[in-house]
Order: sequence, then structure tokens, then C-alpha cells
Amino acid sequence: MDKAIFDKVYNAKDHDVLMDAYKDWAGQYDSDLEQEGYVAPAATAAILDAYVEDKDAYILDAGCGTGQVGALLARAGYTTIDALDYSEDMLAEAKKKNVYKKLTQADLTKPLEIADNTYDAIICVGTFTYGHVGPDSFGELIRITKNGGYICFTVREGAYEDHDYRKHMLKLEGTGCWELEELRQTDYIRGENVTCKVCLYRVAK
Ligand SMILES: C[S@@+](CC[C@H](N)C(=O)[O-])C[C@H]1O[C@@H](n2cnc3c(N)ncnc32)[C@H](O)[C@@H]1O
Repeated sequence: MDKAIFDKVYNAKDHDVLMDAYKDWAGQYDSDLEQEGYVAPAATAAILDAYVEDKDAYILDAGCGTGQVGALLARAGYTTIDALDYSEDMLAEAKKKNVYKKLTQADLTKPLEIADNTYDAIICVGTFTYGHVGPDSFGELIRITKNGGYICFTVREGAYEDHDYRKHMLKLEGTGCWELEELRQTDYIRGENVTCKVCLYRVAK
């Protein structure tokens, strides 16, 4: 694959540059990342699947990209999955997977036009990383998750330390709005030798 696209995506200095990079990459994203050994979607979907019992649970795939995570959850039997992403081009690819009820273009770094307590679970893979979305976005994810619901996300290694994720997560734990159930280190992109943290939180009842 063309490594220049990785550089463009991870070094984007603003959202316009980032969305431009995803516009160029959307059509090749799945095949490029398969080649690179992008294992985070499968690892994260498996962790969420271990906690969510109801296959009709209302799930949001936040930062859905081309829909790899939605496709895995649908294969695991989940029936009611929405998709959200900032990139129209990635959403267009996600739509082709035919696994989402609703696809929404929105910015996870801004207030979301989604009602409080909407989702039973949120999954967010590959999106808490350099130049994408940071820990300030946890508040909105918590707000739109039902009491007792789950939020499962990856944070790329490097970004986890550089952007003080643990500190932000602990601060929210201190307010009692969510409780940590799992925090694991797993492979992220094997071809790049990069790992990530996979975190699963339960929103307060
Ligand atoms: C590396 S991709 C991961 C996509 C998918 N979850 C996966 O694992 O294949 C990151 C995604 O985050 C999206 N993204 C970046 N910044 C965003 C923002 N502020 N709001 C919503 N989505 C964003 C990008 O458009 C891209 O589709």
C-alpha cells in the first residue's frame, strides 16, 4: 500500500486535510488495511459482544469509517446498528455494507444532535488517535448512552500517553458517570507493529 496515505491521515493538521485524506483513501481503505493486518475492529467487536446480551441492542458505531466494525457486529447477530462519521466518503463506503439502520455525518468533537440516553452501546474503533478525536469527546458519548449501557473504544498507543487519556478517563470515573470494566492492550495494525488500548466502560445506572 501507499504509506504516504498513513502519513497524511496521522499528521493531518486540521479536519479539512484529514477529510481530504479519507476522500482519497475511502475506496482502498479496506483492502489496504487488510494487507496491513488491521485487527482492532475484530478485537474490539469481540469485547463488546462479550458484554451485550441482547442482539437487538441499539448500537452506535462512532467513527464508523467504511463500516468494518458494523459488518463484524452484524455477522455476530446484532440487528440494530447506526453509523456516524465525519467523512462523507467513508460513510458512502459504509452504506455499501448494508448493515446500518441509519448513517449520520457528524463531528465527534462537537455537541451531537442525538438525544440523551439513546444507545444501549457505542463502539468506536480507530478514531481516538492522532489528528482525529481526543478524550474531550467522551462526555458526548456518555450523554447519548443509556444508563447501564456500554462504551467500547480503542486508543492508539502513543496517542494514549501523549494526550493523557488515562487521566481524562479517571477524572470521569471520579464523577461516577462511568465505570471501567476492561482495559486491555492489544494489537492494532500488525504490519506497522502498533498496539492500542481497548477500553470498555459501563455508563452509570
Ligand atoms: C481509522 S478510521 C476508523 C474507521 C473504522 N471505525 C475502522 O475501524 O475501520 C477513523 C475514522 O474516524 C473518522 N473521524 C475522524 N475525525 C472525526 C470526527 N471529528 N468526527 C467523526 N468522525 C471522525 C474518519 O473520517 C475515519 O472514518
